[in-house]
This record gives sequence, structure tokens and C-alpha cells, in this order.
Amino acid sequence: MNDTVSAPVPTPLTARCGGPLRGRVRAPGDKSISHRALILAAMAVGESTVTGLLEGDDVLHTAAAMRALGAALTRGEDLIWRIHGVGVGGFTNPASPLDFGNSGTGCRLALGAVAGSPVTATFDGDASLRKRPMRRVLDPLERMGARVVAEGEGGRLPITLQGAADPMPIVYESPVPSAQLKSAVLLAGLAAPGETTVIESAASRDHTERMMKHFGARITSKPQGAHGRRITVQGQPELVAAKVVVPADPSSAAFPLVAALIVPESELILEAVMTNPLRTGLYATLREMGANIETLAKRDDGGEEVADLRVRFSALKGVEVPAERAPSMIDEYPVLAVAAAFAEGTTRMKGLQELRVKESDRLEATADLLRVNGVAVEIEGDDLIVHGKGRPAGGGEVTTHMDHRIAMAALVMGLASEHPVRIDDSAFIATSFPGFVELMRSLGTDLA
Ligand code: S3P
Repeated sequence: MNDTVSAPVPTPLTARCGGPLRGRVRAPGDKSISHRALILAAMAVGESTVTGLLEGDDVLHTAAAMRALGAALTRGEDLIWRIHGVGVGGFTNPASPLDFGNSGTGCRLALGAVAGSPVTATFDGDASLRKRPMRRVLDPLERMGARVVAEGEGGRLPITLQGAADPMPIVYESPVPSAQLKSAVLLAGLAAPGETTVIESAASRDHTERMMKHFGARITSKPQGAHGRRITVQGQPELVAAKVVVPADPSSAAFPLVAALIVPESELILEAVMTNPLRTGLYATLREMGANIETLAKRDDGGEEVADLRVRFSALKGVEVPAERAPSMIDEYPVLAVAAAFAEGTTRMKGLQELRVKESDRLEATADLLRVNGVAVEIEGDDLIVHGKGRPAGGGEVTTHMDHRIAMAALVMGLASEHPVRIDDSAFIATSFPGFVELMRSLGTDLA
């Protein structure tokens, strides 16, 4: 891959206050589950099917990577993806570098998957992904026998990884509460003999564990300390092809949901939202703030809990969000900060250090998003403090820094602020929420 990464042409977009949001919609498939479904199906033997896959740019990059590593993937006219896997340890050398675009999840999980195969692959991505830390994943993978042949400055992309011919199982105490890091080690552990264990001090999303079980791996998860988990996978299983149904992504549903909470007279039903407790910290927090979110029709879908949610415009008040809750809502702080700006009183969101290494420095980008729209906001250490005073002025132009969630959060703000909010670039929204603009317009919002 070239050193010069061609960025897409920026497409600015403006959100302005219009009528209430009304309707019934389904957010696209969950991004975390979509990546994992493709990777585990590629490591299984036989034909797996995935229904409801998120066809956002991030996931499509993972699909292309799995293809380059030897798996066969096709998407039928019925929109079902069919994947013929190569078995654990069965990847082949890709002909060219693997491009993960904007996606930290795709890249870090694939690093883990490749670490346990005797292949050499180069990993790369866009300008945002090239700034993100990868050493945190490379360290345990090297302990397991993978070799880093080349890496960018500070352990960044592009990285060339030589997978281990004979990977070793490890016990790994994760220094950060990161599901990506945990998943990379567990995926590499699939190829190692014996037990690979990850200990995390705060439980992060458990989709890898659930899905490994679904594909036939033996994996256990036990509480560890006050908030943590000890997860052990038995290596060298025969992963068997499986059917995966991807539920709607709670992190994407959060945008229309918060829009309905802050635009007067709105009422919305969000269908089949995944309600895995390790993903729903935002929903708990909004309810504490006074949000009217009703859970309708709870059910089980493909090993995950889902529910339809009815949301109505609500008067919100400021709250304190504890640091322990951060892993269950790590992607939701930009949109929570927007809700907090419309609340009465101060909201303090604690322990947000991991936000600094997302698609952008999301702590700074979120604070800037609010500041340029007339909201009083402070960063104190790793805490974000928003002083809500009802309806903010808006009128700002938000720099999105190649970050889809900053882009969508800013547009949500513009739907209810006094003056329109403009974003410099809407292109990256397609990484996680293709069809966002159309879906929001179908609910009656003014995005142009
Ligand atoms: C993800 C984990 C989180 C999250 C990301 C998706 C995953 O990252 O921010 O959007 O699918 O495992 P970290 O694990 O680095 O916190």
C-alpha cells in the first residue's frame, strides 16, 4: 500500500430543527457482531450463513480481508452472506496488504486471527486508523509466538505480522478494558494447544465469547474481582459452520433515540435493538436522566437479547456517570454528551481515557462539538463535564476528524438546537451506519 492514503472527497451536511420524529425503524446490524461473524465463519469448517450483516465500510473491509486470507464469501440476492471457512490455523498468505479502512475492530481482531496461522500478512488502514495504538494487541500476540516483521512508528500501522506455526497458550491480564484486545488474544488462542485465558478488570462486551460458543468452541467466563471477568478458551477446537442472525446495533440506534428525546413531541419505535447488558450503559444512563424509554417485546435472537424500544421526547436532567459503566457504553459518549447539553444541570462522565484512542481523540472532539455550539463544557483529567441549560444555541461547524460517531452526534444536536449545525464531512458515517441520512429523513428530520 502507498504511504499516501487517498481520503474521500468531503461531503458537508447540515441538520436543522424541524418537526418531531415519528415512526418505526430498525437500525442496521450490530457492527461488533458482524465483524466477529465473518472472522469466526472464516475460521470454521463448512458453510456458515449470516443474516442481517452490517454492510458498512468497516465490516466490508473485514469481509475482503477474510477473502484475501483464503475464505470464500458471497452475498446472495436474499442478502444472506454465505461463508466457507478454512478451519482454525488454515489461512493462506494474502497476495497484497489487508486494508481495514477506518476500522480498529476489524484490524485488531484479524491480527489475533492471523497470529495463530502460519502466514504472513501486512495490515493497513486509513489516516485515522494509522494513528491508533496497535502495540497493545501485538504484545500478547508476540508472547503467543507471532512475529512482528515490520511496524510503523510507535507500533502503528502498517504492520506486517508473521503468524505462529506453533502458537503457545497464555494467561493474559489485560491492562485496558478493551473487547478488541481480549478478542484478539482469544482468537489467537483458538490455534494454540491447551487453555488461553484473558483476565479483564472490567467486563467488556462479550460477543466473541458468545459467538465462539455458537461456533462450537469451549469457552468459559467467570467473574473476577468487583467488575472483571476471567475468560478461558480451549484451543484447537474444530469450529463448525453456524447460522448467525445479527441484531440491530444499540450504538447506532442511539442516534435516532437521542434525537427523539430532545426534539419536542417526538415518538419513535426502534425495532429489535440488541439489549446485551454489556452494551446498554447509555440506556441506563438516559433513564437516570429522566428519559422515557419503554422496553416492548423482549426476546432472544441468535443468542443475544433484543427488544423493541419506544422513545418519547423527555425533559432530561444532569447526572453523574460512573467510570465503571464506561465499557458498556464506550462508543456512546458523543451522543450522550449531546443529550446532556439539552438537560437541565451538570452531567459528569467519568473515566473516559479510552476515548482518546478511538477513531479520533473523541474526548477532545466531543468537547469541541459542544463548545462550537454554545455549550459550556470542561475536560478534567479523564472526565467530561457538560453544563446543560435546556436548549443550546447551535450554529456551529463541527470538525469530524474522520469519526463517524462525532458526525452523527453533531447532526443529532442540530435537529433540536436553536440554529443549524453543520459538519465538515458526512462520508465516514457509512463506516457504521449506511443509510443514516435516509433513515433520519424518513422520521421527518431536516438533513441537507
Ligand atoms: C469494539 C470494542 C470497543 C468499541 C468498538 C467496537 C468491539 O473498542 O469502541 O467500537 O467490537 O470489540 P475497545 O475494545 O478498544 O474498547
